[in-house]
Amino acid sequence: MTAPETPDTARTFTTIGVVGLGTMGAGIAEVFARHGYAVVGVEKDDEGVARGRRHLEASTGRAVAREKLTQSEADELLGRITFSTSLKDLAEADLVVEAVVESMEAKVAIFRDLDAIVAADAILATNTSSLSVTELSTATSAPGRVVGIHFFNPAPVQRLVEVVRTVVTEPGVLDDVQALLGSLGKSPVVCGDKAGFIANTLLFGYLNHAASMFEQRYASREDIDAAMRFGCGYPMGPLALLDLIGLDTAYEILETMYRQGRDRLHAPTPILKQMVTAGLLGRKTGRGFYTYEQPDSPVVV
Ligand code: 3HC
Repeated sequence: MTAPETPDTARTFTTIGVVGLGTMGAGIAEVFARHGYAVVGVEKDDEGVARGRRHLEASTGRAVAREKLTQSEADELLGRITFSTSLKDLAEADLVVEAVVESMEAKVAIFRDLDAIVAADAILATNTSSLSVTELSTATSAPGRVVGIHFFNPAPVQRLVEVVRTVVTEPGVLDDVQALLGSLGKSPVVCGDKAGFIANTLLFGYLNHAASMFEQRYASREDIDAAMRFGCGYPMGPLALLDLIGLDTAYEILETMYRQGRDRLHAPTPILKQMVTAGLLGRKTGRGFYTYEQPDSPVVV
């Protein structure tokens, strides 16, 4: 493991809080722990903590199997992460990244609580992909320290992170977050607070169209995916990517973007809702457009 690069920031980052240890939250915790930060991961109950821990162990186990980490480096990485079911354990955090479900109500409640727990100069960030960062910031007493930090799935692998500024985010907060992310090997881009930001606005119209093409039985799932992989050089096809993102998450993102922008491209194609209702959420439930032997396994049956 290489020594962490010290970011050129006005504030010192030592402890990072991550709220929500689902696919994204666990990946975000791993990114920071890999770079030497003490991470406090908070979930709502013991079951959530156990799931987050399993996710982290599976991911570091894969890195060991591929000889990207030694077993002792993986143990050290995991040793930097402490788990909790109480937001109060984030009192020492210099930055907290919230990564719970895409529910404004749930996120507002967390931001309101965090505002009273963390130090006055700590940064509060949300990993939301489509909800208003501005609205979330108003749940706190200091909206200037609130920013969007939007990672991409799988967070340990994807280099892009969107840094979302609201009209009141302090410039110093933006600078420090970008420098911090750069030191983690990420490529931050900055954008304003609009549902979907840059990447999802461009990506989800395409994913929605692919689901619609499948729904109309225009082509098989394999051929739709093969067309984009082998014709356009995408690392995975759109239907496999929807399974990776999670159909529930994808549906929520499309709904929010459609509600805000009224662009027909983003009106969720009916099959997405049907699959979500039927519990076919993609890799995480073992079945989406494809069927998976294990939730995180790329093996398609
Ligand atoms: N967690 C951690 N690491 C993972 C991983 C995971 N879930 N899945 C794969 N990896 C790692 C592997 O360990 C491997 O690491 P190494 O190069 O250090 O050995 C590397 O990623 C490549 O993995 P594989 O060889 O198994 O497989 P691929 O080369 O096919 O890559 C992929 C898998 C990284 C998922 C690649 O197919 C890809 O980049 N797909 C596109 C993903 C994408 O578009 N993500 C964005 C989704 S949109 C989003 O997240 C926004 C949100 O708001 C919804």
